[in-house]
Order: sequence, then structure tokens, then C-alpha cells
Amino acid sequence: MKNGQIWQDIEGNHIQAHGGCIIEHRGTYYWYGEHKGAPNCPGKERVDVIGVSCYSSPDLLSWKYEGLVLSADQENPSSPLHTSRVLERPKVVYHEKNHCFILWMHLDSEDYTYAGAGIAVSGTPTGPFVFQGVSQPNRQDARDMTVFVDEDGTAYLVHSKDWNKTLNIARLNADYTAPDGMYVSVMADQEREAPALCRHNGLYYMVTSGCTGWQPNSALYATSSHIMGRWKLIDNPCEGENYRQTFGGQSACIFRAGNRHFLMLDHWIPDNLQKSGYSILPIEFGPDGSMTVRWKSEWRGIEKSTSD
Ligand code: GAL
Repeated sequence: MKNGQIWQDIEGNHIQAHGGCIIEHRGTYYWYGEHKGAPNCPGKERVDVIGVSCYSSPDLLSWKYEGLVLSADQENPSSPLHTSRVLERPKVVYHEKNHCFILWMHLDSEDYTYAGAGIAVSGTPTGPFVFQGVSQPNRQDARDMTVFVDEDGTAYLVHSKDWNKTLNIARLNADYTAPDGMYVSVMADQEREAPALCRHNGLYYMVTSGCTGWQPNSALYATSSHIMGRWKLIDNPCEGENYRQTFGGQSACIFRAGNRHFLMLDHWIPDNLQKSGYSILPIEFGPDGSMTVRWKSEWRGIEKSTSD
């Protein structure tokens, strides 16, 4: 699969799973994302909301479309899931004890002034997810977001706030269904978004983009020894052609496969969003705690991508 381009599922259709996340569950990988499979609204850099799609794969290469696991509401204009609104960056995590899948997502008005976090729950990875509602976590605005589950099973919602000037790390309750009231604001006034997190050798890493809408900019990674501690911006992890523009992409998520971490990027095409591409790049961690993401023109699955 050519990195940076739109990919196809096993039926030859374009994979519509933008701003997404990949999780592994019982030997199968599931990729969730924004279904943007329609022309842009005339004159706008948006596609009406279609829903959250899901694809499954045994090897992260051949993807089977599992359908929409959460669909837009086409009838009720006041629904937070109405087609005229915004649904972005869906992130799914598995709750080990409750045996269910929790979907968090950015839900907004068309002009992005509502800035809420929506939640939906399913007993199976392929849905359907039942919508629970939308709110502003800890009464703060929330736009780009991700969910991170730590090794001890505690989950955190990481979201841009204050009009994307700052990021919040909000601890979730035991069911992962709402913030528990404890949060920290990190990288204050650094204007970072598109957060993607992982933990390696006891250090927490967060890759973010700058705030330039659909246009690519420089990724930066930050580290902290405590998830709710002091995060420090370190550097651009990207190496290779066009590294200053994140290879033309923007962080979507970090996922773990085998014993490696991978960064997934969206390569947005603002005036034809449905053709936006993807890339998956292995992450290398240095003994000094550094993080490097090298450009590779092809995604060839876990084994092949890590051995060369
Ligand atoms: C980006 C953001 C995307 C989407 C886009 C809209 O900055 O990361 O998820 O919201 O802006 O312009």
C-alpha cells in the first residue's frame, strides 16, 4: 500500500476511515474512522457527516469493510449526529472488565463553535455503537482528541481546548464513559492538535500537529514521565523527504502491533476530502528517549516494515 495515497479494501473500494484509530482485539485489527465518502459540499472544505466506519484485518494490509458502526442522523437537524454537523477523530478503546467498546469522538456544529466530545458504546467491535450523548469535558471546549488507556487500565481523554491553544488530559471514570473531574492542561498556548499517544519504557509520548486546518505542518513530539505530569515539547520526530510537513500528513493515531508502535497519518485533500490518503510508519525509540519516524513510501505490514 503506497503511503500518502488513498487505500483500497479487499473489495477494491476506497477505505473511508479518516482521522481514525486502530486497535487489536483477539488477533484481529479494527480500524475506525470518519467515513467521508461523498463529494465536498459545494465551495466548502467539508463533507456532510456520514458516520464512523469500521474495517477489520488479520495483518493490517487486507482490510474488510464492516460497515458504519455509528451512522449520521439524516432526519433530525437538532441531533448532535445530524449530517449538517461535524463528526471527527473517532477513537475506540476496549474496556477489559466491562467487555465493551467505547467510542469517543469530536462532535461539533458546522462552524466548530460547539466543540464537544461525543460517546457511544458497543458490546462488539463491529457495532452498532449506541450513542450516549455529547458534552464538554470538564466544561471545556474539545476539538481534536484521542483516548489513551494506560497499562493500569486507567483511560484518559486528550483533547485540544481554548480554541486549540492548549491540550487537556482528562482522566476518565472507571467505565471510560465520562471524565472523572481530574485533568491537567499541558503544552499551554503551544497550539498543538491531532494528539496521538503511546507509552514506551516508562515514558509517555505524544505526537501532535500544529493548527493549520487541513494543511500539513510540522509534527512535534512531547514526553512526560507521568501522564498527568509536566509534558515537554521535544522535537519533530520525522525524518526524510518533506519531514517539515509531516510528509504531507497529520497524526491520526499511534497503535501497537507485535512489539512495535506505529504512527498513522491522514493525508488530507481539502477540496476532495474523500480522496484523502493514509500512511503507516514505524516509530523508533532511541536509548536516550528520543522518537524518530522515518518516511517509507510503502506500508507492507508489520514484519516487512520493521525489518528494513
Ligand atoms: C484540522 C483538524 C481536523 C479537522 C480540520 C478542519 O486542524 O485536525 O480534524 O478538524 O482541522 O479544518
